[in-house]
Amino acid sequence: HTPELTPTDKAPECAIAVDVLRATSTIATVLAAGGEAVQVFSDLDQLIEVSEKWPSEKRLRAGERGGAKVAGFELGNSPLDCTPEVVQGRRLFISTTNGTRALQRVQDSPSVLAAALINRAAVVQYVLDKQPETVWIVGSGWEGSYSLEDTVCAGAIAHSLVQQTKLSQEELAGNDEVISAIALYSQWQDNLLGLLHQASHGQRLLRLDCLDDLKYCSQTDILDVLPIQHETGVLKSQKK
Ligand code: MLT
Repeated sequence: HTPELTPTDKAPECAIAVDVLRATSTIATVLAAGGEAVQVFSDLDQLIEVSEKWPSEKRLRAGERGGAKVAGFELGNSPLDCTPEVVQGRRLFISTTNGTRALQRVQDSPSVLAAALINRAAVVQYVLDKQPETVWIVGSGWEGSYSLEDTVCAGAIAHSLVQQTKLSQEELAGNDEVISAIALYSQWQDNLLGLLHQASHGQRLLRLDCLDDLKYCSQTDILDVLPIQHETGVLKSQKK
């Protein structure tokens, strides 16, 4: 199979949603820290309505708009706030500007994964094990436009898949998005933090004093966790 970056036709067998800064980094962190599940919403009111039916000691509500925390929610969208003490055994109800929307965009695929740089290897291993016929890597971007950080993560995933399946350059020919994402990753793989500094959303987060989030999210393969959709909009950690 050849990974595709730009969805063109019917839902793929496996959809990988990416929002390095920061929704999928946060989702992976919550599940690695023992969160029961992460339930994603594009709409804040709907999040409140659904989460109110959940026992209050077993839920956390996270809301982000424009990079900032939404007033009245326990958490914003910083993965660094999602420590085991905070999330253990709880369900995180989360709505973010772009990341949770990307997940909703692909929610009808048979397998929906959340990927970031920090859990790249776990996502790659899943694809190698399951060998899905078609794979989309869906970058969240920012309000509909391209983003460097999601593209470099797509490149990191594709680079590893290409290496491990020994796919040749000829077999990738014609897939412009994947070739350019791999080239971006090849150029920046030793300085991913530097790339996040260059990215427009990286700059937005730096203005909001979130340098530590950039540092955390720029690390590769530090969490062996696979967030996978169990029911529509609900991601859990795939047991090994
Ligand atoms: C998003 O969904 O757009 C992001 O995760 C924004 C953020 O950095 O919180």
